[in-house]
Amino acid sequence: MKSNIALIGFMGTGKSAVGSELSRRLGTDLVEVDDLIAERAGKSIPEIFSEDGEAAFRKLEMEAVAEVSRREGVVISCGGGVVLDPKNVDRLKMSSVVVLLTAPVEEILHRADRDGGSRPLLNIPDREARVRELLTFRQPLYLRAADYIVDTSGLNPEEIAEAIIGCLMEES
Ligand code: S3P
Repeated sequence: MKSNIALIGFMGTGKSAVGSELSRRLGTDLVEVDDLIAERAGKSIPEIFSEDGEAAFRKLEMEAVAEVSRREGVVISCGGGVVLDPKNVDRLKMSSVVVLLTAPVEEILHRADRDGGSRPLLNIPDREARVRELLTFRQPLYLRAADYIVDTSGLNPEEIAEAIIGCLMEES
């Protein structure tokens, strides 16, 4: 029985805001995988990337995913790169209905600008090229991992949470 909802998707697709709204509506805890990683590492995500490198971050991410996948009845908001390792996807899928949030590149870039330098992978001059390159590689991985896909274009977090709850009710 899958009692968790895991939100996946590229950076800037609204996973955190939607996760927060979804957990509020369902009366469950929200687990932010990135927050768990930062807590365990004792430093921020940008610090992990700059001091220890991406490989070290991915290792911590895998440990965090294994930990949250053992929980029950929670909403899990995943970092955008969680799908890169199939082990993460397998673990999430054992305990969670996996919902993919998508957004147009323009929206992703807008949110990355708004959030400043909090995303190390986008901290480069030509962000658009990087976003397109990462998306091209990751898109099939996101699609393969997803039980449901919600296009977030033009929707606010409340509406997206409602769409997700609609999908889940149809399933049950
Ligand atoms: C990453 C996404 C980030 C964070 C890290 C790496 C990625 O999370 O985990 O910077 O590889 O896409 P968000 O998707 O919440 O921004």
